[in-house]
Formats: sequence, C-alpha cells, structure tokens
Amino acid sequence: MRVAILISGRGSNMAAVLRAAAVPGYPATIALVLSNRVDAAGLAVAQAAGVPTAVVESRSFKGDRAGFELAMEAELARHGVELVALAGFMRVLTEGFVARWRDRLVNIHPSLLPLFKGLDTHNRALEAGVKLHGCSVHLVRFGVDEGPILAQAAVPVLPEDDEASLAARVLEQEHRIYPAAIAWLAAGLVRVEGDVVRVAAPAA
Ligand code: GRF
Repeated sequence: MRVAILISGRGSNMAAVLRAAAVPGYPATIALVLSNRVDAAGLAVAQAAGVPTAVVESRSFKGDRAGFELAMEAELARHGVELVALAGFMRVLTEGFVARWRDRLVNIHPSLLPLFKGLDTHNRALEAGVKLHGCSVHLVRFGVDEGPILAQAAVPVLPEDDEASLAARVLEQEHRIYPAAIAWLAAGLVRVEGDVVRVAAPAA
C-alpha cells in the first residue's frame, strides 16, 4: 500500500516509519513525504532516505483551507497515495478532506486519548498529576484528535519529570507504535465498523 506521511517539523515519527518501511516485508511503501512548511527539518531526512518529497506551503494560501487541501490532494494523487499518515502535521483538516480520506487517514497524538486532545499535552499531563501518560494512534474523524483508536502505549509519569523528560519517554513509544499501526492498516488487518476498529494483530 502506498502511504504519504504529512509533516510540519522535525519528523522523528516520519523517520521511524521510514526505518520500518526499509525492512523487507513491511507492507507499506512510503510514496511521499509532504510538508506544509518549506523549513520542516524532516524533509531533509526523507530526501536522504531517497523518499519523494513535496511542499505545499499553507502560508501562501492565506486561510484558503480548501485551496490548500486541493493542492495537497493533487500531490497525493500524483504519487498514487492510498493511505495518509499525519506525523506532527500542524494544520487542522477540513470536514471535506477528512470525509474523502475516511478510514485511510491516521494520526499519532502524544497523549492517552481521549485525555489531553490538542496541544501542550505533556505539560497538561504533569499539571493534572496523572501517573500514566502516553501516546495514541487513531483514525482521523472531523475534530481535533478525534477518531477511533488503533493503538496506544502508556508510560509512567515519574516524580522528577519535567516536560522534556516526559516527552522523550512518550516519543520513544510513538516511534514504536506508529510504524506498527501503519503496517496493520497497510496489511488489511484493520476492520472498521462505524467508529469501532478491530485489529487482527498482536498488540504493538
Ligand atoms: C509528536 O509528538 C506527535 O505525536 C505529535 O507531534 C509530534 C511530532 O514530532 N502529533 P515529530 O515531528 O514526529 O518528531
């Protein structure tokens, strides 16, 4: 299955998926890394790995979200993309885009959803005093960080944690579960019935 990874920045999750996809037998081909920012550090990582890249600059569309998404769709079509994986992609997608890619659009979020949707999740987890935090991979439905959960990993929150130490512990798990969940989707192991997903695979 041909997968596009959408990024806006560092791209460490993208890099983890690229590493997994380079192993023989991985069921997905990374057909495109697309960024909405020309300065996304992940672009160079993808290029070094020999993966096609494209930039559709959201800034130059000045709030015209439909126009921005049409330009993205053109890139996705040009590369024969069948599944879109958001990896630190910092644009909210329209209802139309989300509907067109229903069940073929996946996201990684740095919290145990449905807790801490949105930004600044690690600080919010620290402030809430939770003892477990983590990350979630979910199919995307309209609304920020909405949609059926495919995979999660939990980590302890330690008394000495600050945002950086907690983020690093979570990120390690993101890099483990995102390639696994994309593989399940690409291999056809995920059955979606409405908003319920069943994965016919061992846990990540
Ligand atoms: C990750 O924490 C991801 O969960 C969130 O944004 C961050 C992106 O990091 N959606 P990276 O660009 O993958 O390194």
